[in-house]
Amino acid sequence: MSGAQLSVQGLTTGYNGFQVLQDLSLEAQPGITVIVGPNGAGKTTLLKALAGLLPRQGTVQLDGQAVPALNATACVQRGLALVAEGRQLFPQMTVTENLELGGWLVPARVRAERLAQAFEDFPRLRERAQQLAGTMSGGEQQMVAVARAMMSGPRLLMLDEPSLGLAPRMVDELLAIVQRIAAQGVTVLMVEQNVRKALQVAQRGYVLERGRIVASGEASSLLQSDAVRQAYLGVA
Ligand SMILES: Nc1ncnc2c1ncn2[C@@H]1O[C@H](COP(=O)(O)OP(=O)(O)O)[C@@H](O)[C@H]1O
Ligand SMILES: [Mg+2]
Repeated sequence: MSGAQLSVQGLTTGYNGFQVLQDLSLEAQPGITVIVGPNGAGKTTLLKALAGLLPRQGTVQLDGQAVPALNATACVQRGLALVAEGRQLFPQMTVTENLELGGWLVPARVRAERLAQAFEDFPRLRERAQQLAGTMSGGEQQMVAVARAMMSGPRLLMLDEPSLGLAPRMVDELLAIVQRIAAQGVTVLMVEQNVRKALQVAQRGYVLERGRIVASGEASSLLQSDAVRQAYLGVA
């Protein structure tokens, strides 16, 4: 299976007249593309705008097909899924119930198939299918959030700081899962603060500062670049 191609051109977006991104363009090909940058740069705003949650100008295309603005349901139907910052699970619902909600747009039969697939891909969640999501560890909750997004059958999976607050071992486990998802043919666009680890698993990357892309290229070249090494990897 080959992943989808995301093409963003001239994206302008923000909040109630407060413009955060202006005339931004980027691409994501099959594999993993990572976006790094300081707090407040506009990374979350970018993912929200792509997911149809904010008003925007410019064009967003998935495999050449326009993705509508301000219509989150249509975005999911076109194959975009967003794992939002902070996971946004329903803490009083079980793991299974949370996952089923991720498949609310698909017929019950497909939903059941995807649930079985999710428990195959995330064995840790199968053991805890009936546990209340709110009682799980941070890492397990992040896995539920990713598995829930996969329930919609996305071609483009967007992740907003999935490793936030996780212990190093859980970060590695989560990034391994993201790599497996990409290897299955899903295009991944991921915002990460864990710059070194993220660029190590990604193929391409963008550096976003104050609403502008200031560097982009192959992940391996960004890892070697002075700008990234000094600003994000603490190398003098
Ligand atoms: N709901 C909101 N209303 C108004 N301004 C916001 C809102 N969310 C974020 N912002 C502003 O937009 C800018 C970019 O924020 P954000 O996209 O969250 O950055 P990042 O994810 O890179 O840390 C910041 O100046 C922030 O204060
Ligand atoms: Mg953010």
